[in-house]
Amino acid sequence: MSPVTRAGVGAILFTADEIAEAVSGLAERLARDLPSEPIVLVGVLKGALFLTADLARALPPQVDARLDYLAVSSYAGARSAGEVRLVQDVSLDLAGKHVVIVEDIVDTGLTLQYLRGHLGRRKPASLRACALLDKPYRRSVDVTLEYAGFACPDAFIVGYGLDYQELYRNLPYLAKLDVRASEG
Ligand code: IMP
Ligand code: MG
Repeated sequence: MSPVTRAGVGAILFTADEIAEAVSGLAERLARDLPSEPIVLVGVLKGALFLTADLARALPPQVDARLDYLAVSSYAGARSAGEVRLVQDVSLDLAGKHVVIVEDIVDTGLTLQYLRGHLGRRKPASLRACALLDKPYRRSVDVTLEYAGFACPDAFIVGYGLDYQELYRNLPYLAKLDVRASEG
């Protein structure tokens, strides 16, 4: 049976296996860059929920990693609202820690720019960003993304945490969404 069973969910861009491979690659690069320092992975809810969990478990066990989350709202429907609002903050003390922002996707870059400013004020030893998906041609601000799993085409993507109006997050793969068909 085809795994595509939902209205509007189109071509699979990356399968669950390809995602797992990309996440291992991200974990390897992080572990290479921060082999013995205390790391805090800060997952951005809700989109990076699965990525943060999988990335944490893909790190070698000797890496001193802690987990935290924050939540922002910035995205209404299929178009960025342009304004980022902090809905829930981290709970750990980030001072002196090597903080890695874990995002589902970087599109205009506005959310990441906001988060770099917000978390940078907590005096971390270093601040990096990691995203599963990157749409570099969509940037409206110049923001650094140190680790990206996949460059992705100019399409609206759902699955593996990414949603359209709170739907499709549970899909184990990443697929293009035909927004009109999903509402039909
Ligand atoms: P940015 O602030 O424009 O970079 O947008 C970042 C946020 O917009 C991401 O964390 C996602 O929540 C959302 N977003 C951007 N592109 C997509 C997409 O193709 N599918 C689902 N969500 C997206
Ligand atoms: Mg998000």
